[in-house]
This record gives sequence, C-alpha cells and structure tokens, in this order.
Amino acid sequence: MTITIQTVDDYHAMSEQAAEYFYDAIKENPDIHIGLATGGTPSGMYEALIQKIQDSALPLGAIQTFNLDEYIGLSQDDPNSYYTFMKDTLFAPLKLSRNQTYVPDGNTSDHEMECRRYEALIDEHGIDLQLLGVGENGHIGFNEPGTPFDSVTHVIELNDTTREANARYFNSPDEVPTHAITMGIRSILKAKKIVLLASGTNKAEAISALFRDTITEDWPITALKEHPDVTVIVDKAAAGQIPDEK
Ligand code: GLP
Repeated sequence: MTITIQTVDDYHAMSEQAAEYFYDAIKENPDIHIGLATGGTPSGMYEALIQKIQDSALPLGAIQTFNLDEYIGLSQDDPNSYYTFMKDTLFAPLKLSRNQTYVPDGNTSDHEMECRRYEALIDEHGIDLQLLGVGENGHIGFNEPGTPFDSVTHVIELNDTTREANARYFNSPDEVPTHAITMGIRSILKAKKIVLLASGTNKAEAISALFRDTITEDWPITALKEHPDVTVIVDKAAAGQIPDEK
C-alpha cells in the first residue's frame, strides 16, 4: 500500500497542514498543474493557502488548475455552480486568470462532448497533484458507489444522499441538480500525486474503507489503493474508524 496518513487534531490543523503541502509543491514547481476539489472540506485549506501565498508574494502566473466536477444545468455564473465556488473561494483571491483555471462546463448542449473535451484537456496538460475530498458514501469527485474504476470524465446521476448532503448550499433540496459531470476514477488516478482531506465523524467510515483489505467499486475511495503516491490528511474524528488507529 502506498498511502501515507497524517492524522491531526481538527479541521483547522488539517487545513493548515494541507495548505503547507500545496504551498511547498507550488514553490518547488512554479508551473505545477493542480487538480482541485470543491466542498466544505477544502475551504479552510484554500483560505490558509491564499494567506501563505499572499504573505510570500509567491508568483502563480504559470500554474494551471483543473477542477474535478461540475453540476449539470447550472451556468458558470450561477451562485451554486462549482465554477462560482472556485472563483469566489480561490481564483479571484489569487488573481488566477480564466485561461489557467479549468472547470468542466455543466451547461453545454452536448454533455458527452464536454466530457470528451475535458478528458482530452487533462490528458494534454497532465495533473501533477490532485486534491480530493470524500463523500460520506466514499465518492471521490462525483464518482458515486458503483462507478467503474476504468471510468474517464462522464455524466453521473447523483445519489439522494449526496444531493441531501449538498443541499445546505441551495435554497431548497429540490434545487440540487440531479446530474453532474465528473472526472472519472481513471482520470483521477492519472495524477502523479494525490492528497485526500477528510474531517469529521461523518467521513470516518469512508476513510476506514481505505485502510481495509478490499478494493471495491462499492467504495470509490478504495480505488486510491491502486495509486502509487497518495497522502491522506485527516482529523482525529475522520480517523476514528481506521483499524489500529482507534
Ligand atoms: C461533493 C464533491 C466532492 C466532495 C464531497 C464532499 O459532492 N463533488 O468533490 O469531496 O462532496 O464534500 P464536503 O467536503 O462538503 O463534505
């Protein structure tokens, strides 16, 4: 197994540790290609990373970012699109330009074509370092349980539990889109390095799946066991069900 686990006290410590990891990676490789994730988990790390970058005036003109996923049916400027989340949370504060930040477009007339375009983009540029969160059911990106491990960027129907978990960002649960475009499991595994973050007891079962023997499409996170370079930064609550870590 090639998974390194770093267990820290709480969400704040997880965010700081991850920010340091990404800061060092950018400093070391100024034209790094980074895969980015959305959600509550990376928000604190983005905030800490912005602070570090601003404090040191680290140049970012040559970095490129590639987001994992986007809701289908929301325009980029919709307040709930992942594009808007990324723009507000990271791209604008870091003054990253549009031509260095890639997010799948969930509002085209041909989603299949958009999936192919996005996968080709990833292949053309290559991702050096991929950031991941994880869903309570073990999804990575929006790859819900049952997604084939050889999947590339595709359209996925979101599980009810995922829509419920993400409803907190919308005015009502009904507004949560039913489908999304997501990098596939294979797309994610193409990254040279992967860093996964998790915080809270609701992620503990998913994190423990990573440390059990089985690799199964029922727990998409277990696909990471087939990758050569994965670092998992979790707080104590999320680490609570790891065998031998209790
Ligand atoms: C969302 C995203 C994932 C994210 C996960 C967990 O559905 N598509 O990329 O990792 O759910 O979200 P959170 O960090 O808010 O718990």
